[in-house]
Amino acid sequence: MSTDHLKIQFKLHPVPECLLSRNPPPHVNSIEQYKKLYEESIKNPTEFWGKLANELLTWHTPFQTVLSGGFEHGDVTWFREGRLNASYNCLDRHAIKNPDKVAIIYEADEPGQDRKITYGELLRDVCRFANVLKAHGVKKGDTVSIYMPMVPEAVIAILACARLGAVHSVVFAGFSPGSLRDRILDASSKIVITADESCRGGRTIHTKKIIDEALVECPGVEHVFVFRCTGSSVPFSSPRDVWWHDELEKQRPYCPPEIVNAEDPLFIMYTSGSTGKPKGVIHTTGGYLLNAAATLKYVFDYHEGDIMGCMADIGWITGHNCIIYGPLANGGTAVLFGSTPIYPTPSRYWEVVAKHKITQFYTAPTAIRLLRKFGREYVDPHDLSSLRVIGTAGEPINPDTWEWYNEVVGRNVCSVIDTYWQTETGSVTVTPFPGATATKPGSATFPFFGIDLAILNPDTGEEIETTEAEGVLAIRRPWPSMARTIYNNHNRYLDTYMRPYKGYYFTGDGAGRDHDGYYWIRGRVDDVINVSGHRLSTSEIESALIMHPMTAEAAAIGVSNEIKGQCVQAFVTLKPNSNNTDVKDLTLQVRKYIGPFAAPEKVYIVNDLPKTRSGKIMRRILRKIVEGQTDSLGDLSTLANPDTVDTLIEEVKNS
Ligand code: PRX
Repeated sequence: MSTDHLKIQFKLHPVPECLLSRNPPPHVNSIEQYKKLYEESIKNPTEFWGKLANELLTWHTPFQTVLSGGFEHGDVTWFREGRLNASYNCLDRHAIKNPDKVAIIYEADEPGQDRKITYGELLRDVCRFANVLKAHGVKKGDTVSIYMPMVPEAVIAILACARLGAVHSVVFAGFSPGSLRDRILDASSKIVITADESCRGGRTIHTKKIIDEALVECPGVEHVFVFRCTGSSVPFSSPRDVWWHDELEKQRPYCPPEIVNAEDPLFIMYTSGSTGKPKGVIHTTGGYLLNAAATLKYVFDYHEGDIMGCMADIGWITGHNCIIYGPLANGGTAVLFGSTPIYPTPSRYWEVVAKHKITQFYTAPTAIRLLRKFGREYVDPHDLSSLRVIGTAGEPINPDTWEWYNEVVGRNVCSVIDTYWQTETGSVTVTPFPGATATKPGSATFPFFGIDLAILNPDTGEEIETTEAEGVLAIRRPWPSMARTIYNNHNRYLDTYMRPYKGYYFTGDGAGRDHDGYYWIRGRVDDVINVSGHRLSTSEIESALIMHPMTAEAAAIGVSNEIKGQCVQAFVTLKPNSNNTDVKDLTLQVRKYIGPFAAPEKVYIVNDLPKTRSGKIMRRILRKIVEGQTDSLGDLSTLANPDTVDTLIEEVKNS
């Protein structure tokens, strides 16, 4: 693969002087210090992580073996004899010392309805709800599905599970009843926690109705706890359904934490892979919590008194890590944002930053691209002087969006951190360090501690050892928060991550490394589409389309989009005698089966799809046709039906 493009000189942004002269100084305050710590973490991981685990976490039983096992069998363990409780680490130890410190600042959908929750209050509420769950039979190792809007009770539900050693599985509230059902069934949850309704961007979402529809096919669910959020009347079927507030009143506000093994699972998080069935990624208590705490401290350079403002939804790994476990494990304060960047106006984020004096702000590039389109007049009137670190995650950030973020939001005095990670990595893996790394817009820069990156030749699997390299991104050795398995499917875990390139964890992303050693994430090399930072698999969308009675075959592709990064477009062939299908029905089909965020922007009804002789649809060709690159369609010799290509070009042109 040519590496000429890596020779381009990108503008280097040094660490802003004002960050270095602060008191207290950044936790890592020079590139030399970063290099020294990074080297230690790679050369002597046992000592490095052992020390950090004792510094950042409280253990009820100390560990003896820091790391054992490896990628081949997927038998990695960290801190294996250690015993601890995640909710104790996030609540009790801070509440005992400082019960009045604010843990969560809740910013509701409607401006002006914010609420502060202290460590003392949060601990009592979590204990009460843990006792509710306990009274309904929930115990260590049980899985509990949570389908909640962005309200403090979602945090309470999550930490109550952790208190009992139960495994929470939070399903993003944008998922449809069908997707929710699949996740509840896969996790074999007997308990579901939800709300009556919720509001987002001024719109009402009928949460309980969605749950009821999902549960029609989940006979194993024994109880649904319903938090009263809007108070509207909703369908309610006792004794299965139980009101949160009724039960809470009965319980004492203390519940002893269930002390679990470091390797006991803390949660399941479903994510899309290259096949249709979502994967239930498992994260463990000790390793995950340690990396979550370390991310907040080092990646966000968190100091006492800071206010972390992560705009993500708690239904994604970013929310778990940067709203709940990272900030609370550090005894910090986090904002829980329950609205959208443009409700009621495109100034919302900046009003929230100014009101709560947020010091670290974190969102997805898609939100920045959207706000940039509205213009800086929505940003400029707001006092953003509290900000020190502004970050993005979830998808590549294009350099001009990065520059806008830096200049307009960061006013050239903040550290801009483009952080690369995945549901499976559990925490940030490639990132600048705010006080140490000179940044290049569009590059996630360098690996976090303990992340031993390699770029491999995708065809041979050989490692490219020159500094300049272009290939696929892999990791050479285990790190504490790596996913340990896929729920009930360890073989799929090995097949997806450990077996494609023997001896490495395979990320599924392409990446380049330039002459200065900076990493540039190129995006997925598999059939995963990234729409506004949401991960979707092409086959998930295709399965939804095929469920339409008129569809014969379907192919979904990701196409570049100015705001969303990528958007979904789909090609459908129809069954005989079904010429009148309305394209809108097909779009609705995807909204209904997966969720509105997965709906194709365009559906082409075509005569035939390009396929290899073995019947595999060549999505690459469809993508090129849609993007107008018909003169570089590449090798068509493996196509069973090469004539389709010209017809498709015409069909796309005429649609
Ligand atoms: O393709 C990469 C992209 O998002 C994928 C992981 O998505 P998810 O599991 O939802 O985790 C999100 C946690 C932030 C990756 O495989 N991705 C994530 N961050 C970046 C990125 N692509 C480029 N630059 C990033 N900073």
